[in-house]
Amino acid sequence: LKAKYLDLIGAASDEAALEDLRVQALGKKGEISLQMRELGKMSPEQRQVAGPALNALKDEINAALAAKKMALADAALDERLKSEWMDVTLPGRRRGAGSVHPISQVTEELIAIFADMGFAVAEGPQIESDWYNFDALNIPGHHPARAEMDTFYTHRKEGDNRPPHVLRTHTSPVQIRSMEAGGAPIRVICPGRVYRADYDQTHTPMFNQIEGLAIDKDVSMANLKWVLESALAAFFGVPVATRFRANHFPFTEPSAEIDIQCSWVDGQVRVGEGDSWLEVLGSGMVHPKVLAAAGVDPDQWQGFAFGVGIDRLAMLKYGIPDLRAFFESDLRWLRHYGFSA
Ligand code: PHE
Repeated sequence: LKAKYLDLIGAASDEAALEDLRVQALGKKGEISLQMRELGKMSPEQRQVAGPALNALKDEINAALAAKKMALADAALDERLKSEWMDVTLPGRRRGAGSVHPISQVTEELIAIFADMGFAVAEGPQIESDWYNFDALNIPGHHPARAEMDTFYTHRKEGDNRPPHVLRTHTSPVQIRSMEAGGAPIRVICPGRVYRADYDQTHTPMFNQIEGLAIDKDVSMANLKWVLESALAAFFGVPVATRFRANHFPFTEPSAEIDIQCSWVDGQVRVGEGDSWLEVLGSGMVHPKVLAAAGVDPDQWQGFAFGVGIDRLAMLKYGIPDLRAFFESDLRWLRHYGFSA
């Protein structure tokens, strides 16, 4: 009996099997329990021999069960340790942190710089009516500027009689909208996306401009020059000389294209030094017809407007050669220029 149970216990593969064996041997109707019951029927002499033997057997089986139970638990723990181990010497896993896109960053910088000079931020829609994008800005239907701007036109279904809309080709329509809304005097900058059908290293079909508008009783070109030179110095961190070149925009009179001072070193441009010039801005005194179209009396008010490419400024400030990279969401590129962790 002893050998039988010790063998069975040794072979048991889990706790449930052990419990079965315990019941089979020592349970109420277990093999050993039944034999214990027989003791009462024996003579005292027989009992004196059989009693201690049975008790010893019972103890031995209990001990064997307990030992096997421990062994099974140890094995289970070993198994877990083998499958659930962790190498604490492995380097941690990097988590990329998001960051502000360079264009957004530069836009915020410019907003802060102009805010210091009293300019509020104004915005307008990117899908703009013909009227705001062209006519109100003194660009009538036949004007060559419409063709020059590589305009994206929106498609209208047969029977749709709403006025034609375009993807705005510049932020200048926001001049009209903000004068309509606030009248004069006014001082606003209008950052935002603009669209032209053009694509190469320095042109993308969507890009960003910031428009400036200052209207008051006696605002002049001299004020424009001061505002721009102050803003450029704040933006680039060095004084930047400007050069005004006569030019034509339908919505300003007189108009000037503005170049900034720079030098070229090994194909890299450096702003604020040297004797080269880079065209970055369009500007001028707001045309009386534009004021009138926006409901501002040109006999009482005058002022300047300018428009500058935000992407261009970002390229210049950070030495980025290809404009298209701004819109490719390549994390390696963002990291290279320090824009992402
Ligand atoms: N809207 C012009 C452009 O996109 C820039 C400009 C703005 C010129 C304001 C004069 C005044 O090229």
